[in-house]
Amino acid sequence: MTHLRLQISNALSSVAGPAGLSPGEFDRLMARVSEAIGTIKRQRSEGSLPFLDLPRDREVLEICRSTARRCGDHENFVLAGIGGSALGPYALFRALSHPFHNLLDGSRRRTPRFFVLDNIDPDTVGALFEVANPSRTLFNIISKSGATAETAAASLVIFDALQKSVGGRWRDHIVVTTDPEKGDLRQLAREEDLAALPIPPGVGGRFSVLSSVGLFPAVCLGLDAENLLAGAEAMADLCLEAEPRENPAALLATLLHFFDTRRGRPIHVMMAYADRLLPLADWWRQLWAESLGKRHTNDGREVFLGPTPVKALGATDQHSQVQLYIEGPQDKVFIFLEAKRFQREVTLDPIFGHLSSLEYLGGKSMNALMAAECSATRQALTDAGRPNLTLEFPEISANFLGEAFMLFEIATIIAGDLYNVNPLDQPGVEHGKILTYRLMGHKGYEEA
Ligand code: PA5
Repeated sequence: MTHLRLQISNALSSVAGPAGLSPGEFDRLMARVSEAIGTIKRQRSEGSLPFLDLPRDREVLEICRSTARRCGDHENFVLAGIGGSALGPYALFRALSHPFHNLLDGSRRRTPRFFVLDNIDPDTVGALFEVANPSRTLFNIISKSGATAETAAASLVIFDALQKSVGGRWRDHIVVTTDPEKGDLRQLAREEDLAALPIPPGVGGRFSVLSSVGLFPAVCLGLDAENLLAGAEAMADLCLEAEPRENPAALLATLLHFFDTRRGRPIHVMMAYADRLLPLADWWRQLWAESLGKRHTNDGREVFLGPTPVKALGATDQHSQVQLYIEGPQDKVFIFLEAKRFQREVTLDPIFGHLSSLEYLGGKSMNALMAAECSATRQALTDAGRPNLTLEFPEISANFLGEAFMLFEIATIIAGDLYNVNPLDQPGVEHGKILTYRLMGHKGYEEA
C-alpha cells in the first residue's frame, strides 16, 4: 500500500554536515521514540487519546450524511468556528475542492459555496450576508466548549439574520457541532430542537478534524469523507505499529524535537509546494504551536519551551522568505510538502522563442517547473547547511490528506512526550479569555 513518504536524508550529517543528525545520535533517538510510542499505545488503550479512534467510527459519518440529507440543498454553507473548529475543515475544503469552487456556476459546482467565519472582524462578518442570502444558506456552528466568545458572537449575528430572513424557519438552517452533553451550545440545541452533531469527549479542537467537525462540512461539500477516514486509519496503524525508522510520525517528531533542543533550531518552517496544501500547513501550525508551546513540564518544572511553527508557500515565498531561509540565522529546520502529481497538467506554449527568458520554458509544463523549483530550493538549503525534510504526497487526494492529518496528530503527541509537556491542553490562552469576558461584562468575571 502506498503511503505518504517522509524523506529525511537532508537532515542527516552524511548529507547536511555538522548541522545534521549523526548515526550515533540517530540510534539513541530511535530507542527513545520507541518508548514514546509504547506510552501512546498504553494511553490509547486507557481511552485517553480518543482522536486515534475517530477514523474507525464510521457511524459518525453516517450521522453526518443523514443530517446533510435532512438539511436539503442550500446555495451556501457557512461554518462559524475558530481555531481547531475551523482550520481543519478549511484545510479539507481547500485540498479537495476545485481551487475556485465558490466562483463556479451552480451547475458545475453542484455543492454549496463555502465560507468560514473564524474571526470577529465586523467588516467581514457584516458583509457576509451581502454575498450569502441567509434564506439560501446552511450555517454550521462549531464549538467544542460551546462557550467560545468569537463563535458565540458569530452565532448571534447568524440567528438574527436568519430570523429576519426566514422567521420561524430559522432552525432549519442551523446545524451545531459541539460536545454531546455539556456546554451552552448543546443546551441551546436541546431547547430549540436544533440539528446537533457530537464531538467526542476527550477530542480537543485541534485534534477534531476527523470527527463530525470535518466530516459534516466534507459531506455537504461533496468531498470523499470515506477515503479521508480510510487514509487516516491506515496511517494510525502504520505510526503505532511500524518500527521507528519506518514510522513517519516517529521520525518527524524526533527530528524536529532534536533540531530544536540539540541544534538551536526552534523555528520549524512548513513549506507547501502546492496551493491546495497551504491550509494544511496552517492547520499544522496551530497543532504544533498550541500543543507544544508550554510553560511547565509534566512534572511541574517551569521551562517556557516549544518550537515556533511557520508556514510558507512554494514557489511564491521563494520571492519573499527564501533569502532569509538561506542566509539568515541558523535557527530553522524545514519541512517541504511536495505533491508528486497534480490533478492537471499545464503545458507552456513554445512561443516567442527568440527571448531567452521564454525559450527554455516552451514545451515544458508548469508541473515540471514546480517540481524543479521545489528540488532547487531544497538543494539550495541543503548546500547552505540548512537541514530539511520532505513529506511526499503521491497526489493530493482524500486518502493522503487523511494520512497527513493523522501523521501530524500522532507526531504531535510523540513530540509532547519528548518535550515532556502535555500536548492536549492550552492553559496559556485562558488568561486572555478571562480578561475579554471581564471587558465585555460576562457575569461571574467582574473580579478577574
Ligand atoms: O485546539 C483547541 O482546543 C482550540 O484551538 C479550540 O479549537 C478553539 O479555542 C475553539 O474552541 P471551541 O471549539 O471550544 O470553540
